[in-house]
This record gives sequence, C-alpha cells and structure tokens, in this order.
Amino acid sequence: MMLAATSTSFTTTIWYTMRATGVVALVLLTGTMVLGILTAGRAKTRSWPAFAQADLHKRVSLLAMVFLALHVLTAVVDTYVSVGWLSVVVPFASPYRPLWTGLGTVGVDLMLAVAVSSALRQRISARTWRGIHWLAYGSWPVAMAHSLGMGTDASQLWMDGVAAVCTLAVLGSLGWRIGDHNKSRERAVRVGATTRAITRPVSPHNASSPPLATPALRSTPRQSGGSTRGSATRLLERDRP
Ligand code: HEM
Repeated sequence: MMLAATSTSFTTTIWYTMRATGVVALVLLTGTMVLGILTAGRAKTRSWPAFAQADLHKRVSLLAMVFLALHVLTAVVDTYVSVGWLSVVVPFASPYRPLWTGLGTVGVDLMLAVAVSSALRQRISARTWRGIHWLAYGSWPVAMAHSLGMGTDASQLWMDGVAAVCTLAVLGSLGWRIGDHNKSRERAVRVGATTRAITRPVSPHNASSPPLATPALRSTPRQSGGSTRGSATRLLERDRP
C-alpha cells in the first residue's frame, strides 16, 4: 500500500518535472535566440558591450541545454508516456505521438549540432561554424511546434501567453536585426562612395570638380598632403544614428 503511494507520488513528480522543465527549456531557448540575434546585430551600448552580450548568450544557451536534458530524461523515465531512449536523438522514432515528439527531437539534434560546433570552434573554419550556427534558427520553431502540439498545458491560457510572448520576442528581434542589417549596408555604400570621392586623383578632366565637392565634406578641411582616412572616419562617426 505504502509502496504504491510512493510509486504514484514518484510518477506524479516525474510528470510535473517533465512539463515544467519543458516550459523552462522553451523560454530559455527563446532567450538564447533573442540574445544571439542582438549580439549578431549592433545592439551594443556602453553599459552593455558586445562581449557581455555574447557571454550572456552563451550562459543562457548552456542553461537551456541543462533544462532540456532534464526534460528529455524525465520524458523517457515517465511511465505514462512511452517515448523510448531512441527518440531522444532519432526523430519520429517515438511510439507515443511520433510527429510531435519527433519535432522535439529535431530541435534537440539542431541544438546539439550548434553546441558541438561551438565547442570545436577553434578547430573548424569560421564559415563552417557560422553555417552550423544558422541551424539554431531552425531549432526554435520546431521546439515551439512540439510544445504546442503535444503539451498538456497547451490548452491553458498561461501557456498560450508564454508562447505568444516567446514568439513576439523572436519575431521582434529578427525584425530589428533585418532593419539594422539594411541600415548598415546603406551606410557602407555611402562611406564607400565618399571614400572613393576623397581618394579620386585630380586629373585635368575632373579638375573643375574638386574631390571635396560634397556638402558633407566641405565642412571637413583637409590639409594638403594629409591623410584622407581621418575625414572618412569623421564622416562615418558623424553619420552614426
Ligand atoms: C528543443 C527541444 C524541446 C523543447 C524546447 C521541449 C519543450 C516542451 C514543452 C514546452 C512541452 C509542453 C509542457 C507542458 O505542456 O506543460 C513539452 C512536452 C513534451 N515533451 Fe518536449 N521539448 C523538447 C524536446 C523533447 C524531446 C526530444 C522529447 C522526447 C524524447 C520530448 C518529450 C516531451 C513529451 C513526452 C511531452 C508531453 C508532455 C505532456 O503531455 O504534457 N520533448 N516539451
């Protein structure tokens, strides 16, 4: 009798732990995504420099892996659902709700690929590392689909709220990143054109239109024989939003 009660309370604990760690893993995975996107962009400020962002991104991703490991472990140990050890890494191998569990497995595999490539960062080329890191973008939507597709709490208002906030955070940071990328490209084109104008040699053909003809540069006096880089840098600095 007592043994049965202990066993029931153990099963219940595992069940709640699986659900709780799943939700925490999803929130931390979202945090990892947002911090990664911000770090890749130009969100750095004096009080929150790039290295601090990158460090936080790394720590939150490690925490996400810890909660994910707990989630997967409790899912396998749980006796109510039978997912099996194979489904931890082999997608769609679970006898229990293969599609939704399989999407979770795809998320785990993608996160593992990103984690392993980051651990080997010194030994692989930056191009390969970046290519694999891009997989991280795929892990989030499949994890979200898994969470909403098979979670007991998916029908609860609070879980819908968590999913909505996570989605808005990822889409918002992605939107900001795309806007920032476009702005940087425009700025690079402007600076390139300005630098070409400054360094253009004065020939009899363009002698009538001196190199410093742009209004932006007229206010930046240049000493004859001096470096043109200073002027271009000042222009770049001044153009910053
Ligand atoms: C990136 C990977 C994963 C994330 C972020 C994730 C997250 C979640 C979340 C948020 C839930 C809903 C919990 C709730 O309703 O309270 C859930 C449910 C579940 N997950 Fe995962 N999961 C992942 C991978 C996996 C994998 C690989 C497995 C199996 C090996 C798995 C097994 C389960 C099971 C069985 C449930 C159902 C729990 C229920 O019925 O309430 N998950 N997961």
